[in-house]
Amino acid sequence: MKDLILNVQNEIAAFAITDNQSLEAFRIYFLGSKGKTKELFGELKSVPNEQKKEVGQQLNELRKTAEDKFELFKESLASSQEDANSLDLSRPGDSDEIGARHPLSLVRSEIIEIFSRIGYTVSEGPEIEDDWHNFSALNFPPEHPARDMQDTFFIEKGENEMALRTHTSSVQVRVMENSTPPIRTISPGRVYRNEAISARAHCFFHQVEGLYIDKNVSFADLKQTLLYFAQELFGDKAQIRMRPSYFPFTEPSAEVDVSCTICNSKGCNVCKYSGWLEILGCGMVDPNVLEACGIDSKVYSGFAFGMGIERIAQLKYKVNDLRLYSENDVRFLKQFTPGI
Ligand code: DAH
Repeated sequence: MKDLILNVQNEIAAFAITDNQSLEAFRIYFLGSKGKTKELFGELKSVPNEQKKEVGQQLNELRKTAEDKFELFKESLASSQEDANSLDLSRPGDSDEIGARHPLSLVRSEIIEIFSRIGYTVSEGPEIEDDWHNFSALNFPPEHPARDMQDTFFIEKGENEMALRTHTSSVQVRVMENSTPPIRTISPGRVYRNEAISARAHCFFHQVEGLYIDKNVSFADLKQTLLYFAQELFGDKAQIRMRPSYFPFTEPSAEVDVSCTICNSKGCNVCKYSGWLEILGCGMVDPNVLEACGIDSKVYSGFAFGMGIERIAQLKYKVNDLRLYSENDVRFLKQFTPGI
């Protein structure tokens, strides 16, 4: 009896099921009402009583093996059938999506390119800053409102105060601490401020900081550098104007407007009918800042400037809602790369 069971076991293993017909033949041969397992079960009565239990178990296992193989092939034949039915040769193929550069990256690269043509290097700094690099070395008095919780995302308060940088001016401190003049560098990067998100404000945005330190650097150099920049970015006809302003780290300080490129200074709703658009802040580096960063303010002078990349992109691409830049909507992002 044991030999018979073993033979059938081998037969089950050897039986090739390739399609629905052979599957049905398998079922009839091994599991049908006149099939092999039934036949063997029928012979159980001739087995001596003391072996009945053991042989019975072996027969149950045999039936289970046959059933398992039947189910396995039934399922796989059914799913391959499905695949074959769902194959639609007229369907258009999946195309590979070609990505586009983010508008802020495009503007950032253009700014870097313009300044690299007049000898500026690119330097970067950490987005998590200590109080020294973000505020103290830049001549912010201890009670300055920019240090307030309203503007700054603090990560750690107290003695080892750490915060997300609120501007890229922190990088000028790092550069001055680690190099000797002449220094000519720009620092693009992300900055953070604790602001409610709206079309005109965001809790993170991007800036480019500029720094030039050498002997005899004057305000005239600053003005000419920014005029060059504005004309490279907005075209030969672009003009700039400077308005007196205040920043703790520059003295004197100014805000710079560029002539409205949208209406050619005739007046439109973007420039609010003034003919001018504000694009950056700048000034001569305050001697206190030079000294704090280990540079002799009696020998060296310099200028600094800082601009928002979103602001420039807004003027170049006429995108007025800041939120669009971080929503990752491909329909928006694709518009800035022609031909895709
Ligand atoms: N750090 C300033 C801001 O975030 C921008 C700025 C103004 C940077 C004047 C400068 C500068 O380097 O000289 O608003």
